[in-house]
Amino acid sequence: MVSLSNLLFLALSATSVGAYKAAAGHYGDYSVVPGFFKQDDLSTNATTFDHHDNLGLNENLTWPEFKQQVDDLNANAPEGTTYKVIYYAVCFHNVATLYYGKNAWKCYWCQMNGNGTIFWGPDGYLTEKGEDFARNNSKLIKSLIVDGFPLPQSMYVSPLSRCGDTLVLTWGDLLLKPGYIRPVVKEGLREVMGVETPDLRRSKTYLKERYPYFDFEHGFAEEDQLFSPTEGETPGGLYWRGRSVLDDIFTSDENTFISLTGHSDNGAGLLKAAGHREFPLNTGAIIPFVVKRVSRIDFNPVQPDIDVTVGPSLTSTTCAATLSISTLDSSVAYATQEVSDGDQISVFTVTTVVTVTPTSTSTSA
Ligand SMILES: *[C@@H]1O[C@H](CO)[C@@H](O)[C@H](O)[C@H]1NC(C)=O
Ligand SMILES: *[C@@H]1O[C@H](CO)[C@@H](O)[C@H](O)[C@H]1NC(C)=O
Ligand SMILES: *[C@@H]1O[C@H](CO)[C@@H](O)[C@H](O)[C@H]1NC(C)=O
Ligand SMILES: *[C@@H]1O[C@H](CO)[C@@H](O)[C@H](O)[C@H]1NC(C)=O
Repeated sequence: MVSLSNLLFLALSATSVGAYKAAAGHYGDYSVVPGFFKQDDLSTNATTFDHHDNLGLNENLTWPEFKQQVDDLNANAPEGTTYKVIYYAVCFHNVATLYYGKNAWKCYWCQMNGNGTIFWGPDGYLTEKGEDFARNNSKLIKSLIVDGFPLPQSMYVSPLSRCGDTLVLTWGDLLLKPGYIRPVVKEGLREVMGVETPDLRRSKTYLKERYPYFDFEHGFAEEDQLFSPTEGETPGGLYWRGRSVLDDIFTSDENTFISLTGHSDNGAGLLKAAGHREFPLNTGAIIPFVVKRVSRIDFNPVQPDIDVTVGPSLTSTTCAATLSISTLDSSVAYATQEVSDGDQISVFTVTTVVTVTPTSTSTSA
């Protein structure tokens, strides 16, 4: 039996391709400024929240008033304090996750490139429904512009094509023109890095060709250097990654209204880093919030403890020992075996292939 501390030691001492390095030397404290949007208010019911309703702007505010108040905050801020408005757009995610169910997806299908009918990795494209969400958001933004909605002045986007496409479909005819905005592709906005093939990115050359209006952050590598087929990031890692994205943008971009196009799990880490309440980043949503940053020139970051390690997790995912075969509709089903040592820290492997008849609901290997 491998002990928990041995596993931690192995994971922390391994030099892994999956490690995402936080920008050194820039630290800030973040908090969300309340009073502007419903989504950061704890009394808002996230289940019934709909971003189509004026992007959640509080009813006592108009968009021009909102813009004025944020500009005033910045104008009156002490040295080292900055406010920015983040528009966080969530790209559509993989339909196969829903089709197979989370368990079968996590334990088997996520490491495949497709199922013979559709392909999802590396870097699967948006489905028609995903495109629909983005086009609807484009209509929504256009309807808000007449009310004085402050358009983003800078844009950052995940290198995965489903996000690039979402950005183009949402903002393309408004902002992606010569002399307007060139969105910057940022590794820090990717979905959880590792294991799941939809989250393995394409080459820079490919992305340049597909998105002629996009720029790339400094140091963006030709091939994916961050994805590990066997290790995924922990929520703690996503928190630190989100924080480094905020530090990076706040210390390099003078603009106030910033669009980020990313995914739901990495977005949860970024919200947490911003000091936002937990809020579901549903597919196709656009969630604005106002963030205050207080620069900490002399700040020594706390040594992150185990559950906030930047970089690869100790475990890709924890699979149940048996799958419910009845959730798989093909005549061949796959079961996985958990290699847990009892500590819930386990690197899963697909160890067993089970053939069942279509009517069987047996779950034994
Ligand atoms: C507007 O409403 C929100 C939510 O009820 C509140 O927090 C905020 O203080 C109000 N702002 C003004 C200017 O009245
Ligand atoms: C939020 O709304 C859902 C759906 O209407 C409801 O089931 C749930 O109880 C509400 N939650 C709270 C905390 O009010
Ligand atoms: C592959 O997955 C899609 C849903 O994502 C499904 O519609 C299709 O039937 C699947 N193909 C096979 C061969 O199972
Ligand atoms: C897009 O908007 C149309 C019309 O309002 C609606 O029927 C459709 O369901 C929306 N699609 C999505 C994916 O939200």
